[in-house]
Formats: sequence, structure tokens, C-alpha cells
Amino acid sequence: MKKRIAIFASGSGSNAQKLMEYFRYHDQAEIALVLSNNPEAYVLQRADNFEVPTHIFDRHEFFHTDEIVQLLGKLNIDLIVLAGFLWLVPQNLLQKYPNKIINIHPALLPAYGGKGMYGDRVHQAVLDAGEAESGISIHFVNENFDEGEVIYQARFRIEPEDSLEVIKFKGQQLEHQHYPKVVENLLKKM
Ligand code: GAR
Repeated sequence: MKKRIAIFASGSGSNAQKLMEYFRYHDQAEIALVLSNNPEAYVLQRADNFEVPTHIFDRHEFFHTDEIVQLLGKLNIDLIVLAGFLWLVPQNLLQKYPNKIINIHPALLPAYGGKGMYGDRVHQAVLDAGEAESGISIHFVNENFDEGEVIYQARFRIEPEDSLEVIKFKGQQLEHQHYPKVVENLLKKM
């Protein structure tokens, strides 16, 4: 039986795209569902292109019902992968999937994490601080933003002339390169 992955994403979904590419013909795991809180998110188009089913939900459904827990249970989801998903994960999901929900963050946690730290804001803060390096963190998800145990980090150098766009690009390259493999390794241990 293949392990089944659900991806939660709120935006463009370039990481979701890499995951769908990596697991498309994989013999041990598959992307079974893409979920989004944002009906306009481009990730939904990407999922359609891969013929991966999608589910759109709102705040009420996510935070005040068990509908998503039930849906994931019905689809026999083994691992939840957040890829640019901007809401905190509620207790009912955390309890149902202990150490089975992971996130990717575009900085070297515990630095530059926490509420409001996502996307360009993270890179801008790194740039403003004059850091000589940044990187990516893949971590287990708990009830706080960006605080669960770190599973994997990768780093890159920041050159003095690097703009926000350059830093973002370097981070994205690392995310795309490593996220699918880290997911694969985690699934092997499950
Ligand atoms: C990624 O860089 C991810 O690390 C970041 O959102 C981006 C989503 O890009 N996540 C956070 O900042 C979470 N705090 P994508 O939609 O192209 O995959």
C-alpha cells in the first residue's frame, strides 16, 4: 500500500508542485489531496494539472468542525505536508496526526519564525539584520507558529549585493530540492 500524503497550501504552491512531480510515479507514496483555505490559490490549478483532488475550506470548517479530520481519515492520509499554508493547525488535527504534520519555513529556525513571519517578510527581516547566511527549515508542526522540532535545515550564503529577490530565489531553490526528499525519508520511517 502506498503511503498517502495531503498537502495544505494557501498560495502559489511551487513546493506543492515539486512534491506532486516527485511522487507522481513513486512506488511507495502518492499525493492524495491538496487542501486550501484560499479559493483563488494557484496551487489548486497546479493540483488540477496533476489530477490530484482538491478541497477548499473556510475558517469555520477548519477551526470549529471535525470535517477535515474526517475527510483525511476517509482518504487514509498518513502524512500532512504544509507548503505555504498560513493558518495555525488546530488541536483536533494535531491529536489525530502526532508527528505526522510537517511544515517548511524559509529561514533558519528558531530565528525569523513566529506569527506574521511568512514569505517575503522573512527574507526582508533577514536582509535588514545584515545576516551573512540564511536557509530553510523543515519541522514538525505543533500548536505554535514555527516551533515544532526541526527535522532538516539547509543553508546558503548571502552576498553583500544580494537583493530580497535573490535571497528568496536561493531559498526557493533549496526548498524545491530538499522538501520532497525529506518527506520521502520521513515516510520510510513510518
Ligand atoms: C515557501 O517559501 C515557504 O517556505 C513559505 O511560503 C512559501 C510558499 O511558497 N512558508 C512560510 O513562510 C511559512 N511560515 P510556494 O507557495 O511557492 O510553495
